[in-house]
Amino acid sequence: MYSGKHLIQPSDFTIEEINDILSLAKHIIQNPKAYADVCKGMVLASLFYEPSTRTKFSFDTAMLRLGGQVIGFSDPTTSSTAKGETVADSAKTVSKYADIIVVRHPKEGTAKLMSKFADCPVINAGDGGHQHPTQTLTDLLTIVNYKKEIKNLKVGVCGDLKFGRTIHSLVTCLSRFENIEFVFISPEELKMPGYVKEEIEPLGIKYTETDNLEQAMKDGLDILYMSRVQRERFISEEEYLRLKDFFILTKEKMALAKKDMIVMHPLPRVNEIATEVDSDPRAVYFEQVRFGMYVRMALIMTLLGIKDVQ
Ligand code: CP
Repeated sequence: MYSGKHLIQPSDFTIEEINDILSLAKHIIQNPKAYADVCKGMVLASLFYEPSTRTKFSFDTAMLRLGGQVIGFSDPTTSSTAKGETVADSAKTVSKYADIIVVRHPKEGTAKLMSKFADCPVINAGDGGHQHPTQTLTDLLTIVNYKKEIKNLKVGVCGDLKFGRTIHSLVTCLSRFENIEFVFISPEELKMPGYVKEEIEPLGIKYTETDNLEQAMKDGLDILYMSRVQRERFISEEEYLRLKDFFILTKEKMALAKKDMIVMHPLPRVNEIATEVDSDPRAVYFEQVRFGMYVRMALIMTLLGIKDVQ
C-alpha cells in the first residue's frame, strides 16, 4: 500500500511545503515549456462524482501540459459505482492504472477514505461541504501575485460560510500565515461553522462576524473573498431561495472599498457579483482561474516526487 503523501486538507502540508509549491508554480508560469515533458508516461485519474468546470479541467490540462495523460469520468453513472462498487474498491482498482488520483465527491470524508485504499497519491478536489484544498492553493497563488506576500492582510469572506468548502479550507490555511485578520460576512443562517472557529481561535486569529457587507468594505479590507450560496447543500429549497441573493456585490458597493482591495471568488458565480464588477481592475476572479491550473501542475509534480527543472 502506498504510504506517501496525499492532499486531503491544507493542513496536510506545512507552510514551508506550501511555499515550495507556490514557488514551483511561479517557475512554471515563467517558463511553461520547460515542464512540458516532466510527467511523460504518467497517468492522472480524475474521478468526479459531482459537477465541476474549473477543478476538473484545470487538473486535466495541468497533467496534459506536463506531458502526462488523463483518464476518468465526470458522470459516475458511467462507472461501476452504478453497479454498487464502493469508493474503497474503486480507489484500489483505479490506482492499479493511474499514478495519481483526483477525486471530488458530495460526501464529506470520501477523499480521505479513498486515500487509505489507493496505491498512489490521492488529491481531494472537494468533499461535500468540508474542504477544497486545491482551491486554497489557487487562492494563495493569487494572493501572492497581487499582494506579494501572504501576511498583514485583512480578509473579508462573504456569503455561504456554513457550506462553502473553499472558505473552510482557505480560512484554516490562511490562519497559519503571519498577521491575518478575518471579517466573516454572512446571514445568521450561514455563519462560519464552530469547528472552523475552534481551529483558528487557539492560533490567536482576530475575527469579527457581521451581515453588513457595505460596512466591512468601508472598514478597509485588503481582500474580499465572495462565495455563492451552495444550493446543492440545502435541505430546503425555500430556505435557499430566501438566502441566495442576500449579498450582491455591485459597482456602487465597490466604490466603498480600498483602491487596492482585490475581489476573489472560487467560482462558479450565480448572482452574488454583478457582471458590471468584472471590468473593475480589482476583480481578479478570472485570473484566479488561470493560477489554478499552474498551481495544480506544481502540486502534481510535488506529489509524484518530480523535482523542479530550474
Ligand atoms: N472553484 C471550483 O471548485 O469550481 P468548479 O466547481 O467548477 O470545479
